[in-house]
Amino acid sequence: EKGGYPHFMLKEIFEQPRSILDSMRGRLELGASHLNMGGIRAYEQKFINAQRIIIVACGTSWHAGLVAEYLIEDLARIPVEVEYASEFRYRNPIITERDIVIAISQSGETADTLAAIELAKSKGATIFGVCNVVGSSIARATDAGAYTHAGPEIGVASTKAFTAQVTVLTLLAMIMGQKRGTITDTKLRELMVELDTIPAKVTKALELDAQIQEIAEEFKDATNFLYLGRGYNFPVALEGALKLKEISYIHAEGYPAAEMKHGPIALIDENMPMVVIATRDSSYEKVVSNIQEVKARKGRIIAVVSEGDKVIPAMAEYVIEVPHTSEVLMPLVSVIPLQLLSYHIAVLRGCNVDQPRNLAKSVTVE
Ligand code: M6R
Repeated sequence: EKGGYPHFMLKEIFEQPRSILDSMRGRLELGASHLNMGGIRAYEQKFINAQRIIIVACGTSWHAGLVAEYLIEDLARIPVEVEYASEFRYRNPIITERDIVIAISQSGETADTLAAIELAKSKGATIFGVCNVVGSSIARATDAGAYTHAGPEIGVASTKAFTAQVTVLTLLAMIMGQKRGTITDTKLRELMVELDTIPAKVTKALELDAQIQEIAEEFKDATNFLYLGRGYNFPVALEGALKLKEISYIHAEGYPAAEMKHGPIALIDENMPMVVIATRDSSYEKVVSNIQEVKARKGRIIAVVSEGDKVIPAMAEYVIEVPHTSEVLMPLVSVIPLQLLSYHIAVLRGCNVDQPRNLAKSVTVE
């Protein structure tokens, strides 16, 4: 059942080229230059005229929501708020009939997310679900939605569900941008062509497995980790830190790289490993100077860079080169080495990666 892999988590990490493709199938038709998402058809005008989008989710799904915030604001120019479902619910939020609430959930059974949906519904908002489990409570509670086609995810640590969520949300943002006229045909076409290459790029990123295992050997006894990223890679930093925490029990935090100087930089010494996601994008130069700041304080740097980077290898202790892609699609590729790193560290520490202590696959209590 684990398909020859020692753990479900590793199997699921390696399934990603496939699950991303499955989540695009029928929605991205490159030949016909066509984007399509059945779930929004009945609500097209609502999406076009939405005054605001509120995303509710928990954990990894909340991280996918953060990526979606960047995507939707960038491509469709609609203001987006991303909320922890549990907080949203208990703070008397302002919701109107012109708001669209997007609920993201792998299991479709997360109690906090379900309760947030019920609240938003009672205020008249339109609820759109992005769920993996067909027929789940959340899928049934929403007005419309688009399933992620990740297939069953057994490992408690979410991996392929995350990239499937980001894939679906990317398509949604592209469709909204197209319908609202906030993205040019040329830009849209470029993104479609690039999105089509993502499964192959993820396959290439997975080939880094052996190198990442060596890095894991080096850092398996660390007691703390920091993860840094900017822009689209900021949510990826949060996701990398969450993965490490939940399966290896190492304390880890994700930060927007520029926030370092406002506090966390005080933590850096020769014992502090820092995973910096520094792919070639609009904040690249800034991230390079963040790396310099860390290096000056003797922090140990593991950098995730775009293939062919000439600058960072001279500065970082370890460099992981991932295939380059468009900035807006980068999370789908840059998250892969972070999933593998946490997996290998957890295995080397003898942890139960598929069923970490204190955690359940779906959290059905509020
Ligand atoms: O099933 P959901 O996507 O609603 O679950 C949300 C979180 O409980 C979940 O992502 C959790 O954080 C994972 N264990 C992360 O790996």
